[in-house]
Amino acid sequence: METTNVLSIRKIAHSGIDSVDFNDLGFGKYVTDHMFSAEYKFGTWQQPEIIPFQNLIMAPTALALHYGQTVFEGMKAFRMDDGNISIFRIDKHHQRFNRSLERLCMPQLSFELFSEGIKQLVMLDSAWVPKAPGTSLYIRPFMIATEERFGVKISEEYKFIIFAGPVGVYYTKQLKVKIEDTFIRAAKGGTGYAKCGGNYGASFYPTQLANSQGFDQVIWTDGSPELNIEESGTMNIIFVMDGVVTTPPLSDSILDGITRDSFLAIALDLGYKIEERKINVRELIELHSKGKLQEVFGVGTAAVTAPIKTIHMLGKDYTLPADNPDGFSQKAKKILTDIRIGARPDKYKWNTIIC
Ligand SMILES: Cc1ncc(COP(=O)(O)O)c(C=O)c1O
Repeated sequence: METTNVLSIRKIAHSGIDSVDFNDLGFGKYVTDHMFSAEYKFGTWQQPEIIPFQNLIMAPTALALHYGQTVFEGMKAFRMDDGNISIFRIDKHHQRFNRSLERLCMPQLSFELFSEGIKQLVMLDSAWVPKAPGTSLYIRPFMIATEERFGVKISEEYKFIIFAGPVGVYYTKQLKVKIEDTFIRAAKGGTGYAKCGGNYGASFYPTQLANSQGFDQVIWTDGSPELNIEESGTMNIIFVMDGVVTTPPLSDSILDGITRDSFLAIALDLGYKIEERKINVRELIELHSKGKLQEVFGVGTAAVTAPIKTIHMLGKDYTLPADNPDGFSQKAKKILTDIRIGARPDKYKWNTIIC
């Protein structure tokens, strides 16, 4: 059964909201009172419910714990100027979730189950959507394989859960990054385009190594001799090169970022030329030497933008111009923020509004 009009809601006895320091939210510290939960078994989704946020009970043999059938999404809800709440681009997150699930042989979710789950949870915990500029309610839908069996196989049982938590501003400083030329995040034919847990676990070691060398993040490449640029840590990457907004083309090794897509739409509207094409390290070094590498920044739901100040390429540090309010990155970020909070018309129909 996949209808959510029969959704059962069990409310928490006492809200935990009083223990939240809304002046120091951090990222990933707080969760709201409730969570959405649905189980998949006998080849279909069972009746979903909203229950108090709680630990999961799982057998040590649950397949997700061993063979990595785990997929997640990361999205946000915003407090609008008029007090309503907007949830950003539910449809695009749903499509990406299903693409990830397909790659991991996990069951698809209807748009209704996904979007109603999110809307009902956000509505119930609406008091948790923070108001201060730059803050939001982060929403984490995820699915895990729960069948109890330790032989390697595709699970026949799953849990789909959505929880949420208020978050503050993610990055505060301009980053120093290195082009990673030893390790890769994703390979052609692999799972890079899927938001599956294994991609993140496998990226920790090279990132930790880069941190120990004094870098905030790594820029991933495709591992070819040309070192074509792919992503920036857990964000997509955008360059402004000689006035052109340029980003690597989507492929099976790049996550189809919703912020990336939104920035490209805004860039077109602002009159920028955009190019989605391969960019290699030699080209970056050459452009830098000519003073044409104007902006380099990461884009993603968590931070929106992460401006890069220094890039380490082929053994040398290259410094970029300071992030400035007239640059594309800051202009686009302001437009995106204004759309989300209702300070600018939502001409792209990105917001789902909850009153
Ligand atoms: C590997 C990776 N690339 C890019 C992104 C940016 O995607 P989005 O803008 O949808 O958050 C994310 C974050 O979700 C990510 O984990």
